[in-house]
Order: sequence, then C-alpha cells, then structure tokens
Amino acid sequence: MSHSFFTAPRALVVSAALLLGAGFALSANAQSAPGPSPARQAVEARKAVFTLIANNFRPLGEVVKGNAQFDPAEVQKRAARVVFLAGLLDETFPDASNLGEPDSKAKPEIWSDRAEFDKKLKDFQSHAAALVKVGATEASATDGFKAAVATVGQDCKGCHETYKIK
Ligand code: HEC
Repeated sequence: MSHSFFTAPRALVVSAALLLGAGFALSANAQSAPGPSPARQAVEARKAVFTLIANNFRPLGEVVKGNAQFDPAEVQKRAARVVFLAGLLDETFPDASNLGEPDSKAKPEIWSDRAEFDKKLKDFQSHAAALVKVGATEASATDGFKAAVATVGQDCKGCHETYKIK
C-alpha cells in the first residue's frame, strides 16, 4: 500500500482521506451526532469508493479494447488510483453495515462468508498492485498489459456475481 499511496495523485489522496476520515471521525460521537449512522456512512463510503474505482478502471478497459491509446502516464495514473482505492475498501464493510436493500446492494453472504469475501477483496487488491507494476514497465498495450487488466476485470465480475445484488 505505501508505494501506491505515495504515487497516488495528491488531490485524490486528500479527497479519499476526507471521504473516509469524515465518516470515521463522526462515528466516535455517533450517539449524540445527528445525521447518518456509522453503518450508513460505511455504505456511502464503499459506494463512493466503488464509483471512483469504476471511473478509473474504465479507461484502462478502453485501452485494452483499442478505443484509447496506451499513454504510459495515463495508464500509471489510473492503475495507481485503482490500487489505492481498493485498499480503502478494507474499512468499508463493518458488520453493522449489513443493511440490505434499499440502502445497499451488498449481499448478507459477505458477513456470513467473511473469510471467502475477504479473500476475494485481497485478490483484487493484489491483482490491482500487479497491474500497477505492469503499467509501469510496458510501453504499449501488450498481451501482458491486457492480461493484467482482464484479471482485475474478472475480480470485479466474480465478486459482484457472488456478493452484490444485481
Ligand atoms: C471483493 C468484492 C468486490 C470487488 C473485487 C469489486 N466489487 Fe464492486 N461492489 C461490491 C459490492 C459488495 C458492491 C455493493 C456495495 C453496496 O451497495 O453496499 C459493489 C458495488 C459496486 C458499484 C456500485 C456503486 C454504487 O454507487 O452503488 C460499482 C460501480 C462497482 N462495484 C464497480 C466495481 C469495479 C469496476 C470493480 C473492479 C475494478 C469492482 N467493483 C470490484 C463488491 C466488489
């Protein structure tokens, strides 16, 4: 994580820290503080993080499909953001945040099958880290780059199939 933290763009690091920090600072006074419960804040935080992950992963998919050029700086920026954001997810699935619909599309199996879910999350994080490495060494959309993007894409799909309500 430390590598990607320091390479992630400063503004992103700051905004992500605000996003999560605000939630967890408030949760200390949850009893008296008006506003969303810590559980709802966790749901909002993970949805925001997933939205940003999708926004930053999509351009890499476009490169793989040949709809966008392989620009090393752009690829490295996107990949660094994805790995940084993926690390934030560790804190966004506390037990209390098993709210179900309509608040959340997270399936209850995340909490009843926690070890398996955590493994999927860890695999996603390590495949995203591998993509950062590949993105930093390749100079074009090589098979290695495409495979690294595809592996991460499979992690999105695989986790959603099991743990996200459609
Ligand atoms: C380890 C499991 C897991 C992985 C890996 C994962 N997701 Fe998700 N994703 C979820 C769950 C669970 C939700 C539902 C969260 C909720 O509604 O509380 C979700 C929700 C989302 C959402 C909807 C956010 C919203 O505003 O409601 C998007 C977009 C998304 N994921 C994109 C992605 C992309 C893109 C990837 C891969 C680059 C990915 N996810 C990888 C589990 C995962």
